[in-house]
Amino acid sequence: MDSILVRGGQRLTGRIPISGAKNACLALMPAALLTEEPLTLTNAPRLSDIRTMAQLLESLGCEVASLQAGRVLVMGAEGISNHVADYDIVRKMRASILVLGPMLARDGHAVVSLPGGCAIGARPVDLHLMGLERLGATLDLRDGYVHASAPNGLRGGLVEFPMVSVGATENLLMAATLAKGTTVLRNAAREPEIADLARCLRAMGAQIEGEGTETIEIEGVDRLHGATHPVVADRIELGTYMLAPALAGGEVEMVGGRRELVAAFADKLEAAGIEVEDTADGVKVSRQNGGIAAVDVETAPFPGFPTDLQAQMMALLTLADGVSRLEERIFENRFMHAPELIRMGAHIEVHGGVATVTGVERLRGAPVMATDLRASVSLILAGLAAEGETRVARVYHLDRGYERLEDKLSACGAQIERVSERAA
Ligand code: UD1
Repeated sequence: MDSILVRGGQRLTGRIPISGAKNACLALMPAALLTEEPLTLTNAPRLSDIRTMAQLLESLGCEVASLQAGRVLVMGAEGISNHVADYDIVRKMRASILVLGPMLARDGHAVVSLPGGCAIGARPVDLHLMGLERLGATLDLRDGYVHASAPNGLRGGLVEFPMVSVGATENLLMAATLAKGTTVLRNAAREPEIADLARCLRAMGAQIEGEGTETIEIEGVDRLHGATHPVVADRIELGTYMLAPALAGGEVEMVGGRRELVAAFADKLEAAGIEVEDTADGVKVSRQNGGIAAVDVETAPFPGFPTDLQAQMMALLTLADGVSRLEERIFENRFMHAPELIRMGAHIEVHGGVATVTGVERLRGAPVMATDLRASVSLILAGLAAEGETRVARVYHLDRGYERLEDKLSACGAQIERVSERAA
């Protein structure tokens, strides 16, 4: 098992290329199951979660070719030969549930294991299931699997989500493209990944209006065809790297990023005294000699502050001048990075969904443990600013979501390397 070793205290300067979005790509790939023609995704990120989704699609009889060293994925599902998404693959990644809607829409039946994924709360899939039932599916939960059927095909309907869910919106959006008649999704998620999926489905022949707003309307069509679609930039990767110069000091340009993808987050960075500037190629972030001001943060569905940047923002606020309050409103149990940051000298108190962070003058390097994807990167960010050496163990979490993280950061002057446990 690998660790990442960071020696803190280096100012960062340079450019970091932002990859295609993991979460967009994980929703776009199952769309290939909706048509017998090939779907080509360009600007795909090279991550273990993407390989897991490719394996899942292959297990269903969809061919997946990875070209240009994984940058381009070509998926062809001439037919779906197996309609069972097995627990062994699904348990690795919660996004696996996204094959349910497409399989059901195309062939009228699907069996999908209930998912696993990061340990950040209970994370049920009831909204996905409720929505599919509204489109006429019959569902049966047995032995840890969802058995879904719609022998005469799905039919359009009104789906009103009681709470905003990114995944449920994606599943329903895909399913509705091949349903008979009109589907209206109310209280739909507005994340950029949803808009990206809608753009791709439209290129495949789907009729969709309203993506990026709370109401999405889909007019079902008889069939979809192949398409080529570029994956949108990863806003969470963007926000994460924006925090690197904010913590370590210096100036870094995130190439391919756009402020509008992380507007609420960028506003908070500026409130904390960090400079954020749009450039021709992306977004530039700098902190020269100024301090970091305390700010309060509440996570919320898009366009609010993303829960997937909460841990990283906390790393910054450990060094702020004053007391910051971070409220996590999307997932319970998403402060597992706090005890690890405390090991590095941070002052954090957690009560339920609220973390109170009292800024300290400096962090000290320490051996720490990654507990989930975004928690692990927050420890690396903290390590960039800490005195001495930080060793982050269990970095397989990191490889699920960050492509060549140590290369991207060391190109800007960070002292960071991957070491194998044996060498450690
Ligand atoms: C997606 C992202 C994840 C991000 C999250 C919120 C992917 C692959 N993952 O996850 O990185 O943190 O959005 O921005 O895109 N919920 C239910 N019932 C359901 C579905 C969700 O109660 O059927 C709850 C969840 O437990 C959570 C909230 O709704 O409290 C939001 O979850 P959701 O938006 O569905 O997150 P994911 O799509 O799983």
